[in-house]
Amino acid sequence: MTSQEPGRPASLDDVKGWFPETDQRLFTWFLERQDQLGESGDLVELGSYLGKSAILMGRHLRDGETFTVCDLFDSDASDDPNRAEMARSYATLTRAAFEENYRAFHDRLPEIVQGPTSSILDHVQPESCRFVHVDASHLYEHVHGDIRAAQVMLRPGGVIVCDDYRSEHTPGVSAAVWEAVITGGLRPVCITPMKLYGTWGDTGPVQDDLLNWLEKQEDVWHEVQQVAGRRLVRVKKKRAKKPDKHKEKVRRLEGRLAAAEESLAETRHLLASVRGSASFRVGRAVTALPRAMRGVRRR
Ligand SMILES: C[S@@+](CC[C@H](N)C(=O)[O-])C[C@H]1O[C@@H](n2cnc3c(N)ncnc32)[C@H](O)[C@@H]1O
Repeated sequence: MTSQEPGRPASLDDVKGWFPETDQRLFTWFLERQDQLGESGDLVELGSYLGKSAILMGRHLRDGETFTVCDLFDSDASDDPNRAEMARSYATLTRAAFEENYRAFHDRLPEIVQGPTSSILDHVQPESCRFVHVDASHLYEHVHGDIRAAQVMLRPGGVIVCDDYRSEHTPGVSAAVWEAVITGGLRPVCITPMKLYGTWGDTGPVQDDLLNWLEKQEDVWHEVQQVAGRRLVRVKKKRAKKPDKHKEKVRRLEGRLAAAEESLAETRHLLASVRGSASFRVGRAVTALPRAMRGVRRR
């Protein structure tokens, strides 16, 4: 992860957090698509840390919509495993640091629920949201509840994004996410190495639009798989091509050869112009007799 330098962040890269570039592109794509289709609704983030993903989500908030973030920040967790998780990973987190970062990019703060995500339905109305990002605790019991709450908050066709659905250190998240897919009616639209994007609505149109867009992205790789009888789009950043060492050497040698040929041509040109000059010809004429006589003596 990136480390945040002290001071006001100037770009999202300056904000410490976990939000890879491919996911930034996909968040933007999903939120802009909702805008283009005139799909309105509130935005919710469960687990905001220092605001990296919240700052991007906040850019897509439109008039009349509410953006709510829910995080414990510097409050105590309600159970020991969650308390241990907080102490291990977010010990220095403060709400003030989140607010400072967010204000560096937006005039207004989002609605902030400082407390456990299990309380989110006390603050957000059912079927009021178009986009919910689930990125708080990694414990199965919490994530299970967060996904259930997201289903309640989302409007038909709304989008849920689940973080860490496959990380080696977060099996509890994987269990809760795939459980929602297999038994809870959650339909995955696409996955990246870090996040699963899904909906309880129809996946056909959004996947078609996504595939159209992906075809035009030169730096993003994708493929389509079938999972439990449903289409699933895999998306990830294309690896930068490793330079071919052999080609690189040939290119360098070709450069040196071209330079040598150029310098040879210049020398030839210089020699020709010296030979053609009047002083050279006079000099040759003056030295012709002594040279001829030396030749006679040698014979
Ligand atoms: C992985 S971080 C979020 C990363 C963030 N979305 C980003 O873009 O960098 C997880 C956050 O969840 C919060 N959290 C953990 N357990 C929580 C709980 N039970 N309720 C609310 N927030 C919780 C932590 O304080 C932490 O800020």
